[in-house]
Amino acid sequence: MQNYAVRPVKGIRGEIAVPGDKSISHRSIMLGSISRGETTVRGFLRGEDNIATLNAFRAMGVAIDDDGETLRIAGKGLRGLSEPTDVIDCGNSGTSMRLLTGLLAPQRFYSVLSGDQYLRRRPMRRVLEPLVQMGACLYGREGGEKAPLAIIGRGLTGISYASPVASAQVKSALMLAGLYAEGETRISEPHLSRDHSERMFRHFGADIETGHGGVVVRSGRELEGRDIVVPGDISSAAFFMVAALIVPGSELLIRGVGVNPTRTGIIDILTAMGGSIELLDQREVSGEPVADILVRSSRLKGIEIAGEVVTRAIDEFPVICVAAANAEGRTVVREARELRVKETDRIAAMATNLRAVGVSVTETEDGMDIDGVERVAAGAVESFGDHRIAMSMLVAGLSAAGEIAVSDTECVATSFPTFFSILETVAVR
Ligand code: S3P
Repeated sequence: MQNYAVRPVKGIRGEIAVPGDKSISHRSIMLGSISRGETTVRGFLRGEDNIATLNAFRAMGVAIDDDGETLRIAGKGLRGLSEPTDVIDCGNSGTSMRLLTGLLAPQRFYSVLSGDQYLRRRPMRRVLEPLVQMGACLYGREGGEKAPLAIIGRGLTGISYASPVASAQVKSALMLAGLYAEGETRISEPHLSRDHSERMFRHFGADIETGHGGVVVRSGRELEGRDIVVPGDISSAAFFMVAALIVPGSELLIRGVGVNPTRTGIIDILTAMGGSIELLDQREVSGEPVADILVRSSRLKGIEIAGEVVTRAIDEFPVICVAAANAEGRTVVREARELRVKETDRIAAMATNLRAVGVSVTETEDGMDIDGVERVAAGAVESFGDHRIAMSMLVAGLSAAGEIAVSDTECVATSFPTFFSILETVAVR
């Protein structure tokens, strides 16, 4: 088990670029594989989660060449995937498992999806239920709630589905199934979750409509291979944004970050807390908005966080907790129940870890109250096998009273394999 300790630093300074967006990287492999002709992907995130998706498509007969810079995917068309000869291992990746379930349900073959001990504990009925309504034949442990999942491919029929959760994974699974289902598949959600699938479906020429009522996908049209440039992942940038805000004497420029409005909740939240964050050189790349982000150290104050911004910042709560611990006053998080079913229960994990470094935290069923302190104390904490918990606590160490040691930090490689080396380049000692 790999442990890592971070000592307080004198500043976070310089210019960095973060690796490619995890959500967009997954989708580029999936759509590239089921398109006609070649798709090239630059800026692909070579994290463990995305490699799991890449291996899944290789196992279904798709030739994917990686020269270290550009991925070249020889698309097989909508009906070109072949039956995998073994269980597909999704590792820690919920996105791989949930989206693949939607894509595999209408194939003319049998497949099984499994993953690591954390993924096998996560809820899957949210995708199985609507897919079964479309006519899918799917099985899982605990009555279809948990992986391993067995998928007996068959013909599907489009439905109109109002998802009870704002989840891009549920929406995207149904959109992928909708490419094959008879008629049209209509999906609505309580708040708009990340819309990378909608954008990429359009980019590949799918028959799709979006609007206030949600998204509609119609089957029958082949997708065409495209050239994709993946922007930097705002969820990775978030760790360095918070680091630069909480360490006095910091100024950091993060280049080429995806700033899709369905993902910028972190910027809105940190700005409302008093953080100095500027978006520079806003542009569009492969149908996604991109900017450079300039962050300067700031005195943060506690705020209330609830409603639609929770969906737009869902992966950033662990590091938002660290910002809150360093803010003046109380931060109140509500309507964030989804955090309990992420890679780990992120409400419980962050409450435990922040208490271990002297911060008072009250857990509620759907959120938490965090009372900021002058300085977070030194201490030893756990990753709970969750990459974002590990990186958040390492960021906390940068402005703590002494060293913060985090155990079991290998998980960082699931989404941000270069986290440690980038940290070294910006930490002023
Ligand atoms: C993702 C969607 C989000 C997010 C996850 C990636 C995606 O999950 O938490 O890290 O790529 O679609 P939900 O859609 O389940 O909220």
